[in-house]
Amino acid sequence: MSNEIAPHSAAASGAPGPHGWADVCAIDDIPPLGSRVVQSSGGDIAIFRAADDRIFAVHDKCPHKGGPLSQGILHGTSVTCPMHGWKIDLPSGEAVAPDTGCTRRFEVRLDGRTVQLRLD
Ligand code: FES
Repeated sequence: MSNEIAPHSAAASGAPGPHGWADVCAIDDIPPLGSRVVQSSGGDIAIFRAADDRIFAVHDKCPHKGGPLSQGILHGTSVTCPMHGWKIDLPSGEAVAPDTGCTRRFEVRLDGRTVQLRLD
C-alpha cells in the first residue's frame, strides 16, 4: 500500500505539521517486520516497522542496482534486498560489509501511534 506525500503541501492522511513533519499513517497500518511505501517528489520512500515498533525510512532503492527495498525481508534493523541479497542497515542506510553503498535515509518519528515523516 502506498501514500503520496509532499513537503509543504497537503499530505494523504493529514496536514504537514511544523518543521516539515507530515503524518503518513498509523503505525498499525504497517505490519510488524513489514513496510509501507510513500511516494514523494524525490522518489518512493520505504517505511519499515521493526519487531519492537521502531520505525525507519529510507529511499526505496537499493544502492546496488536499485532494487525495491520495501519488498525485502526485515531482520532486526536490517533489510535484505530482494534482488541480489545485499543487506542494508536501516539506521545508517549503509550496505553491510562486504558490500558498499548507501541509500538515503529520511527522518521519521512516532507521534503517539501516528508515523510522521520529515521531508524538508
Ligand atoms: S539491487 Fe539490491 S542487491 Fe542488487
